[in-house]
Amino acid sequence: MTVKDKIETVVLWLKESQFAIALTGAGISVESGIPAFRGAQGLWDKYDPSEYATIDAFMRAPYKVWGMLKELYEITLKAEPNPTHKALAELERLGKLKAVITQNVDSLHQKAGSKKVIEFHGTGETLTCILCGAKYRIEEINLEKVPPFCECGGILKPDVVFFGEPIPLHALREAFELSERCDLLLVVGTSAQVYPAADIPRVAKRSGAKVVEINLEPTPLTNTISDIFIEGKAGEILPLILKAYKTQCE
Ligand code: APR
Repeated sequence: MTVKDKIETVVLWLKESQFAIALTGAGISVESGIPAFRGAQGLWDKYDPSEYATIDAFMRAPYKVWGMLKELYEITLKAEPNPTHKALAELERLGKLKAVITQNVDSLHQKAGSKKVIEFHGTGETLTCILCGAKYRIEEINLEKVPPFCECGGILKPDVVFFGEPIPLHALREAFELSERCDLLLVVGTSAQVYPAADIPRVAKRSGAKVVEINLEPTPLTNTISDIFIEGKAGEILPLILKAYKTQCE
């Protein structure tokens, strides 16, 4: 099947769908200037995740981990939504997409206008004091001097899920409820290597959903779970899907 044929099929499935959702990963924010974790120029090639991305590493060496966090915040706070985020927000506005489950912590789905966003790996928008639990917004933090401290003297930690931390219970529950309920799942820009997020496509498939995967390269889902795999940039493919859908539905 050509990409055009695949897009036609996805549009047909979208039209037939009563409950479509999306699962997104770091790949959809690459076109907003935020590096992904794996693959070409992946963040984990620069920073060993065992030394920078586990909760133990954060507690053991907060000054070191905040060196990476500061670099990431400086990129993500300047980043703007790209055509993928905008196309998914428009599909929600058209009543087609019921929710986005994202592994990203950059808030770009919300900035693009998506309303129903499940942040499966938390968010960088808020931080929590590891001593007293006080909450701060990133806008309140001066990133010139890291790590940032709470008024009580404790170090602040972004509300993102580090390896070794549990997925926020409300996000876990809602994501899997949506996965069981959906009849169409768009999986966009994820290497599908991190669990339990990578179980979401399996749960959707087992519940009878069609799974459409959009990625630069195949993943462990491609020949096992995905019904359609469209190879390419999400920022090019999603707008084509949206355009074809709107043409056929207006
Ligand atoms: N369009 C589509 N896919 C893309 C694009 C693009 N423009 N650029 C990159 N990709 C794909 C890559 O081929 C890769 O499969 O996006 C995927 C990014 O994979 P990862 O970097 O592993 O990101 P993700 O799957 O979100 O990682 C999951 O791992 O480190 C943890 O908590 C972190 O949430 C993250 C989780």
